[in-house]
Amino acid sequence: MSADYPSMTTAEIRSKFLNFFEERGLKLYPSSSLVPDDPSLLLANAGMNQFKEYYQGKKTMKEIGAISCQKCVRTNDIDCIGEDGRHLSFFEMLGDFSFGGVSKQQACAWAFELITKEFKLPLDRLYFTVFTEDDETHDVWRSLGVAEDHISRLGEDDNFWAAGPTGPCGPCSEIYFDMGEEVGCGSPDCKPGCDCDRFVEVWNLVFTQFENDGHNNYTPLDHPNIDTGMGLERLACVMQGVDNLFLVDTVQNIMRHISRIAGVEYGAGEKSDISLRVITDHIRSTSFMISDGVMPSNEGRGYVLRRLLRRAARHGRLLGINRPFLSEVVDTVIQENEKAYPELREKSAMIKKVISFEEESFYKTIDKGFALLNGILDRTDATILSGEDAFLLSDTFGFPIDLTKEILAEKGMAVDEERFRALALKQRETARASRKNAGADAWAGDADVLEGLEKTAFAGYTKLSTETAVTALVKDGARAESAEAGDEIVLTLAETPFYAESGGQIGDSGVIRTDSCTIRVLDTTKNASGVYVHKAVVEEGFVREGDAAEASVDAERRFAIMRNHTAAHLLQAALRTVLGDHVEQAGQLVNEQAVRFDFTHFSALTDEELLAVERL
Ligand code: SER
Repeated sequence: MSADYPSMTTAEIRSKFLNFFEERGLKLYPSSSLVPDDPSLLLANAGMNQFKEYYQGKKTMKEIGAISCQKCVRTNDIDCIGEDGRHLSFFEMLGDFSFGGVSKQQACAWAFELITKEFKLPLDRLYFTVFTEDDETHDVWRSLGVAEDHISRLGEDDNFWAAGPTGPCGPCSEIYFDMGEEVGCGSPDCKPGCDCDRFVEVWNLVFTQFENDGHNNYTPLDHPNIDTGMGLERLACVMQGVDNLFLVDTVQNIMRHISRIAGVEYGAGEKSDISLRVITDHIRSTSFMISDGVMPSNEGRGYVLRRLLRRAARHGRLLGINRPFLSEVVDTVIQENEKAYPELREKSAMIKKVISFEEESFYKTIDKGFALLNGILDRTDATILSGEDAFLLSDTFGFPIDLTKEILAEKGMAVDEERFRALALKQRETARASRKNAGADAWAGDADVLEGLEKTAFAGYTKLSTETAVTALVKDGARAESAEAGDEIVLTLAETPFYAESGGQIGDSGVIRTDSCTIRVLDTTKNASGVYVHKAVVEEGFVREGDAAEASVDAERRFAIMRNHTAAHLLQAALRTVLGDHVEQAGQLVNEQAVRFDFTHFSALTDEELLAVERL
């Protein structure tokens, strides 16, 4: 490739971009964490994520717009990552954003100026796409000097952008760079958007005009917005005259490190090149994810992390590396990125610990898992692996289902996923049921019996005893008008001071007195309609529905429970101080005797760690 423009390092590109827009009055924001502050999003996937509320008009900015260089993870095409040199699961996105302060014309003009004057990319190698109906943007590019045959119109699939199933979105216009005919597919139809290596999309300018409610109802936003995103590594590829992302300055040293460990040069063979790219990509994304607090797990973003790490470990095997090695490569990831992302150095010990722990635990079973899978493959002509086998591989040998699918796909096979999911669900439900207090559930869970009752007023934050009335009695699973000494009952009150079991804190016990009886409350829970349900025994006398009553919590027991509840918070804080901010509550049980606190951490605690937590 003949470079008819100056070469630039990744760091130079980043600062040139940010300086250019800062000089034009846009405010610089640091990258937000990969763990978004947005429940609709698993991982940060675009620069605009952190500005969502500005787009929605919930927040306003005094500057005309914002800029950032955002850490992004995209794993929707994880199976393709490594197959070629054009995709990364982790990348940096440069972007300028505006929420009514910058016009579409201005945004295009700045993009054009930056790319042709500052980065000095030759106009004859630049191509532009616009949304089919967007004449306005087409005319803007023309007025800036773009030739008609360098502009194409594409439909919704290519030129309409949304961060996710809900939220701000809109039509877009992309800027492509022509890497040269010699790297293209040669097809006469080859143009921007073609799947070959010739046209590289470097910049996407989105004109965020709508809010999608998740059902494809597009409501126009109050003002037109600008959201542009430029793949930093993609532009670096262009600026450094290399034909793939893995040869960019900040990425290639990571791949070299892996090459050294494997004793395999990049370029030695197609298969080993794929493995080198997979590992290079995945070790970058996982290092960044862990530095932002993601921990391996079987759900959500933790699953994405686990899947990436295990896919990388497997490709290590394919390269002939027969020991855990990924955590060593983290050093090079840090070295290449610490200037822009100092958190990597700060968290380096933890990143390595998490990766080696995960890798080692997978290594313990990987061979047995492969032996099992290969045995099955040898014995069968079927093209579908049974759900039972896939479940065994996942449950006992730690093969995430997607990894099994990928290995099978390489052999032209598939998995009975429906059966696999059914087995996995069954296992989760069994586990959940055994965790729950099945008794309490059975006595309070029957919604029908208590149907129609009003939500109970809870007085227990301020009072331990209250004047109230019996609103319903249940005996032997059915509503009863009355109950007498010796009856085991369930009852509800108009107002109650009894705390109902929730969030791992046990329900209150105590006593309820009426003119004619004494009732001992053994436990309290709450149904889905907010009705507090007291499990009780009539100790003496006779009670009728509607009776006035005085309900009193066993105060000594309640105070003991409260102390343990406080202890749970202190314990969590101490765990976070000693082990790190990644510690999250995974479950807890608080009663009058003790507190049990389940938390997320990647390994068992050492004696020193335990002692430090205890001391705090
Ligand atoms: N949000 C758009 C993208 O991610 C432009 O920043 O491509």
